[in-house]
Amino acid sequence: MKTFSILCFMIIAAAGITAAQPVTDKRTMPHPAIEEKLFGKLRDGREVFSFTLTNASGTRATIINFGAAVVSLYVPDRNGKLADVVLGYDSLDGYVNSTTYFGVIVGRYGNRIAKGTFELEGNTYHLAHNDGENSLHGGVKGFGKVLWDAQPIEDSNNPALKLTYVSKDGEEGYPGTVTLSVTYTLTAQNELRIEYTGTTDEPTILNPTHHSYFNLTSDPTKTILDHELMIDADAITPVDAALIPTGKFLDVTNTPFDFRKLTKIGLRINANNEQLKFGRGYDHNFVLNHYNKSVRKVAEVYDASSGRVLEVFTDQPGIQFYSGNFLNGTVKGKNGVFYQHRTGLCLEAQCFPDSPNKPQWLPSVTLRPGETYRQTTSYKFSTK
Ligand code: GLA
Repeated sequence: MKTFSILCFMIIAAAGITAAQPVTDKRTMPHPAIEEKLFGKLRDGREVFSFTLTNASGTRATIINFGAAVVSLYVPDRNGKLADVVLGYDSLDGYVNSTTYFGVIVGRYGNRIAKGTFELEGNTYHLAHNDGENSLHGGVKGFGKVLWDAQPIEDSNNPALKLTYVSKDGEEGYPGTVTLSVTYTLTAQNELRIEYTGTTDEPTILNPTHHSYFNLTSDPTKTILDHELMIDADAITPVDAALIPTGKFLDVTNTPFDFRKLTKIGLRINANNEQLKFGRGYDHNFVLNHYNKSVRKVAEVYDASSGRVLEVFTDQPGIQFYSGNFLNGTVKGKNGVFYQHRTGLCLEAQCFPDSPNKPQWLPSVTLRPGETYRQTTSYKFSTK
């Protein structure tokens, strides 16, 4: 009897709900939205999730909480057709074994530290030598191969995902326990905004960046050499053969590094130029103009074939333009495509490489207890 009345109640309640609710039609699903899915399992059993942020116009970014990696980014071409414009892997294994940093947040120190060594407040610290004798992108695992806590933030216009990672004192050789939060927001203006905040309990250094490889054609079998690029920079920080900055600035005037007006990347990439030889192409930090700690437009990429435009905004003093020179057809990416030479480009907002060993370079990358590290960088998509 009791069971029967509970059942009756459930049927009536269910009928009530059905009557009160409009029929849900997938095509009229409310946007913006965040969809969470299991992406894979790490060897130790921990689960990795993907979060797809979709805005009102259907533009969508999928981010996983392993490495805080952007694994796909669907943006419209000039005909409104959505397609994926970032390189990546089909499965978690790809990200676990990656040597390319596809889509991840790198840190604690994005880019290189000479000989993996720096001094801070009278102590000398030794980091892993994972790039010849230098340290690159935070070390062996860095922030790109660890599991972050993820917190979706539903917002009526701008779906977002906040990822937090606590890097213990001594991790990868860096001092102090650092808590870094990175919030990805997909705005109604088709902008993927990345906001970082970091704190520490002991003096340390912090210079994280984002490492998506963009190919605006959405066809990763094509190179990025026909993409046109603008970088608002009058100088680069030239490097030695191991890509460590010399400590000087090089004026871009009359060099293949003058991107102050939109210029095809392929136009001068094979020029007889020592810096291009050292980089095997472009792999250089540009000294961005108008640095005053506020966000300003610093770069633009245009692909005439699709009409896609990518504008980069940041509050950082530098940006690493990397033309995918280490891709050589051996990395198997999404849909089984082996990524060939220069089929993706990175624009990594940062403080200058090797700043801990270049005291003349400001701003300081030192973070002390009580201070908060902040960075805002946006990748904004449109068409023309
Ligand atoms: C950065 C570096 C490059 C390369 C890539 C990853 O852009 O500057 O030299 O290490 O990351 O392959």
